[in-house]
Amino acid sequence: MILVPVLFAVITALLVALLFKGDIKELLNIYLPPEHHYQISGKDRLYIQLQKNILKNPGLFLNESYIKQIDHRLNSTGDTELVVRKGQKVIYLSPELKGMDTGELPAFGLYGDVDPFEKLNNQFVSIKKLDFYFPDDSEGSLFIITNANSFAKFVRSSFPILFIGLIIILILTNGLLTYFVSKSIIRPIRDLQKAAKRMKEGDLSIPIKVRSKDELGQLAQGFEEMRIRLNDSIEKQIAYEENRKELIANISHDLKTPITTIKGYVEGIRDGVANSPEKMDRYIQTIFTKARDLDRMIDELFLYSKLDLQRLPFLFEKINFDHYLEDYVEELRFDVAEKQVEIQLIIEKGDYLIVGDREHLKRVITNIVDNSLKYIDKEHKKLSFHLSSLPTHLLFKLSDNGPGISSENLKLIFDRFYRADQARGTEKGGSGLGLSIAKRIIEEHHGSIWAESESGMGTTILFTLKKAGEQSEKNLNN
Ligand SMILES: Nc1ncnc2c1ncn2[C@@H]1O[C@H](COP(=O)(O)OP(=O)(O)OP(=O)(O)O)[C@@H](O)[C@H]1O
Ligand SMILES: [Mg+2]
Repeated sequence: MILVPVLFAVITALLVALLFKGDIKELLNIYLPPEHHYQISGKDRLYIQLQKNILKNPGLFLNESYIKQIDHRLNSTGDTELVVRKGQKVIYLSPELKGMDTGELPAFGLYGDVDPFEKLNNQFVSIKKLDFYFPDDSEGSLFIITNANSFAKFVRSSFPILFIGLIIILILTNGLLTYFVSKSIIRPIRDLQKAAKRMKEGDLSIPIKVRSKDELGQLAQGFEEMRIRLNDSIEKQIAYEENRKELIANISHDLKTPITTIKGYVEGIRDGVANSPEKMDRYIQTIFTKARDLDRMIDELFLYSKLDLQRLPFLFEKINFDHYLEDYVEELRFDVAEKQVEIQLIIEKGDYLIVGDREHLKRVITNIVDNSLKYIDKEHKKLSFHLSSLPTHLLFKLSDNGPGISSENLKLIFDRFYRADQARGTEKGGSGLGLSIAKRIIEEHHGSIWAESESGMGTTILFTLKKAGEQSEKNLNN
């Protein structure tokens, strides 16, 4: 932006200087002190001598042989010719200038001062004029006419073209510069503006192109990252919203099913359909089971929402997890005594002291066990508990011989409301909260939970719990 106009200014200055100085060599003198200027040329010396002779003896210039001699000398110094005018009459015209319109020659005196360049006979010449009086007091003028330097001539003749060319070049440069500036600045800004407008209107799907690595590029990059984040968060929000809607639909459905059953059985009793004590017993038993399911479902929902809002209190205490698990399994064996369930418990040697909340940990194991019992499709059900000790954590495993979980579902089963079996209203259908509640509780104990499974071969749910170190209990309860 700076360089180009400067360059043009220099070119213009050179051309103008050339126009008024006449010769490119003269320009060199501008930069040199006077003592270093070019030495006086032969022509100049002759010119000085002519001036001297004019002053001393103007009559000499009536002598044709003297004039011829001077003309000859001038011719030999370059393309220079001599013209002598007496009054209005040209008394000598160099043979080379034959046919020249002498009327165009500048007039006598100061006002007939000459332009460094003149066009004579369609030729550019530089004219030097010496005015004097002949002995008879008539006005005399001596013209030394030099064919102007060809470059200067060119400049003079082509000055309008050069000038127009210069302006065109300037316009072109300006146009090009404007184009590049607009390309590198205005276009990215306009893109950003458009993108911001799109964002305002809620359309976050179109990526913002990053065109460069400069500040604007970085700004565009920042915008793009913001767009991605916003898009992600909106997508999450939408998914969350979907989830909630689905939850409400699911809960309504899941609550409706047992209530319809209960209503049906109560109507049966009221209308006297349960007319024998056995029938009555069965009816009441069904009503009780359904009411218990309902109660459990509501509890689970309530628990999950409390965990979600982080409003569930945890009461941390030291627990020997091996003993705790033994007790649990014993209780479980008692509970499933009537069902065909084989329960195995392996506890490896180790230290299993942890700090945890008994009730909540029981909820975790129960949820896992319930799943296994619920989803096992075999006649002979097998549950095997395994407890082992890692350096800082203990590792709990529960394997079953159920249908297993496909690998794409494996990561998702810990998400809330996720059910691998999407069909609702089946006997097995739950709310899909069991494992997400378990995950939340395990995370509160600084552990992690995951599942391993081979389709058809059963499922293993594993979790780790941090072993109790010094002060752990205090830390956790605070
Ligand atoms: N042992 C298992 N064998 C096969 N599939 C399982 C097993 N455990 C969990 N799943 C799958 O993971 C899904 C999520 O389990 P989760 O316990 O979170 O929900 P749920 O059992 O459907 O409902 P809820 O436990 O709230 O009654 C289940 O729907 C089931 O498809
Ligand atoms: Mg479950």
